Amino acid sequence: MTGTFAVTVRTSADEERASAAEEIVRGLTAEPKTLSPKFLYHEDGSELFDEITRLEEYYPTRIERSLLECFGAEIIDDVRPQEIVELGPGNSAKSGTLIGPALRAGTLKRYIPFDISEPAVREGAQALFDAYPDLGEVVAVVGDFERHLSAIPRPEGTRLIAFLGSTIGNLHPDERKRFLAEVRGLMARSEDALLLGADLIKETSIIEAAYNDARGITALFNLNSLKAVNDLLGIDIDIDLFRHRAFFNAEHSRIEMHLEAQTDVAFTLPASGNTVRIRAGETIWTESSYKFTKDGLGEALNETGFRNVRWFTDPEEMFALVLARP
Ligand code: SAH
Ligand code: TRP
Repeated sequence: MTGTFAVTVRTSADEERASAAEEIVRGLTAEPKTLSPKFLYHEDGSELFDEITRLEEYYPTRIERSLLECFGAEIIDDVRPQEIVELGPGNSAKSGTLIGPALRAGTLKRYIPFDISEPAVREGAQALFDAYPDLGEVVAVVGDFERHLSAIPRPEGTRLIAFLGSTIGNLHPDERKRFLAEVRGLMARSEDALLLGADLIKETSIIEAAYNDARGITALFNLNSLKAVNDLLGIDIDIDLFRHRAFFNAEHSRIEMHLEAQTDVAFTLPASGNTVRIRAGETIWTESSYKFTKDGLGEALNETGFRNVRWFTDPEEMFALVLARP
């Protein structure tokens, strides 16, 4: 069968650069200083993340993958999706665990990966298109899932929306709520379903090790967001002056990832001419990764219009797949 393969680029590079520059300036002049986590995936970032997923210490990918391998067919059998929309798939390395069973069930017509990293989503979507000749249509969308979900084509049948890798944990509670409500809005039919991968609360030492790997790949990933700043603003912050720090904040139940200045750092922002000053020991907060209880996440889903929730977890309850319907 010959299918169709298309890529929709919702964000032009110029538009992205302009909005990114504004966002960076806002973050770096705020108190505390922050950078949006999406800059982690800039250029080499997606490949560094791919390396993280293979690290011994980084348990989420391994466990989520085994849950998908174990329960993928059961999930597909429950939903019988005609299309799978995947938000933040990166290079779609896990997507075959859903696409394979859905093709075998004879229901799947279309796969729609949506990611901010154009090279990752192109490469992943193409590889799947080549690997599954029965997959009729692949429509990759390049966009920001906090701004461009409306670029997803209109539904043409029962829809499964997958959001894996505990990327839901990288949104703060208010952002999470807004995002889930918007995703709920993408679901036209009561049979439509959301499949979320979420990391669960466990012993702090296990969580912290996953974000402080011995080889320092997570540190490179974190520092990559400063490379993005240099690239997007056309400036030259000395990356060697910063150090990766990741720790569990128990009060908020999240890993916080920061870049700590090793000395006083100052640089000038091109548009405004304003100088940003970072004191030695001060940090730029680049990402959070919330860890959930089943009750807490179930409540967040209920609040945003998902009533029917099914859980799939490993025996130790390290990680969860949640299948949620209106
Ligand atoms: N689902 C994959 C990858 C998770 S990493 C897995 O489970 O391994 C998070 C992915 O989300 C990356 O591919 C990144 O490019 C994408 N991403 C991060 N922020 C995004 C945003 N705001 N909009 C769209 N995609 C985003
Ligand atoms: N969604 C992944 C997570 O929260 C993203 C990630 C991987 C990450 N490594 C990280 C986030 C390091 C912060 C720090 O696990």
